[in-house]
Amino acid sequence: MSSLILGIESSCDETGVALVRLPDGGAVPQLLSHALHSQIDMHRAYGGVVPELASRDHIRRVLPLTEHVLKESGTTLQDVDVVAFTRGPGLAGALLVGAGVACALGAALDRPVLGVHHLEGHLLSPFLSEDPPEFPFIALLVSGGHTQLMRVDGVGDYAILGETIDDAAGEAFDKSAKLMGLPYPGGPELSRLAEGGDPEAFKLPRPLLHSGDLDFSFAGLKTAVLTQAKKLGDDLEARKADLAASTQAAIVDVLVRKTLTALKDTGMRRVVVAGGVGANKLLRAQLNAACAKRQIRVHYPELHLCTDNGAMIAMAAAMRLQAGREQAEKTYAFDVKPR
Ligand code: KG4
Ligand code: ZN
Repeated sequence: MSSLILGIESSCDETGVALVRLPDGGAVPQLLSHALHSQIDMHRAYGGVVPELASRDHIRRVLPLTEHVLKESGTTLQDVDVVAFTRGPGLAGALLVGAGVACALGAALDRPVLGVHHLEGHLLSPFLSEDPPEFPFIALLVSGGHTQLMRVDGVGDYAILGETIDDAAGEAFDKSAKLMGLPYPGGPELSRLAEGGDPEAFKLPRPLLHSGDLDFSFAGLKTAVLTQAKKLGDDLEARKADLAASTQAAIVDVLVRKTLTALKDTGMRRVVVAGGVGANKLLRAQLNAACAKRQIRVHYPELHLCTDNGAMIAMAAAMRLQAGREQAEKTYAFDVKPR
């Protein structure tokens, strides 16, 4: 016997649905099928996510995506044993769509439901890869809303070692990109532009690099980018790639060096990188190089599972159930936790 878990993600601007098979015993749960609809094209015209439009689009997409994953995996709704959804953090209206649909399905099918923490989804997403990590490890969680270094000893056994005191790493990418006039979402755009630039062209600050702790701060960097952009004035267009490369280098430098400090402080030999910024090529290259030198293993989610998706939510639910950290319940009076 095994159980089938349906996962629904709707915290921001991607609707994600997935099916994960949870085997009996200790084996790693298996992803059967996942489907994603990104709202990026819809929000681009506004320069960022419009919450009301996000909620409405989740409503339009979630059931067709659910039908798609069922069909693709050769299963039916009746086969689903547990319905999991993202409880938060995220946009309240957007979260309510996933929670509402999950609980309605649960009630109609008489199956238990389970609310999942979005960041735990990111954190456990490398377990969806062919070469999953083993506990314990250091996790660098870098998304649009969070930047944290964690010690992870098992499912649900997390200790925060350091985190950002202001902007998240993804926010630093996005806000700097906006200052340079790049389209939303700025992170991947800035990183693409940076490929043709000189990372040493501008001297930008590495905030808290020598603070002696594992906290981050990126607000000052954004201000420095703004100052530099103003100074360039009409020359900004011609020097944009250099400014993008210098900005990316500053963010990545801090992330890599603090991660190495966390590894050294704890004596851990394994690190997991998760969240949207984990897709950044320079971050991967620099962390891989630094860790190879120290014989430290680095694990990432597959590139297409770095940003928000339903697979990580189904996976986190499966792993929590498997670890006995959670009971899915037939309680359908749902709530969401935007913060
Ligand atoms: O994890 P995620 O999809 O959503 C949150 O939970 O926040 O992360 C989105 C963030 C955005 O800030 C986006 O700009 C950033 O991840 N991002 C990147 C790259 N791809 C996504 N930042 C830098 N380089 C990338 N390649
Ligand atoms: Zn996310």
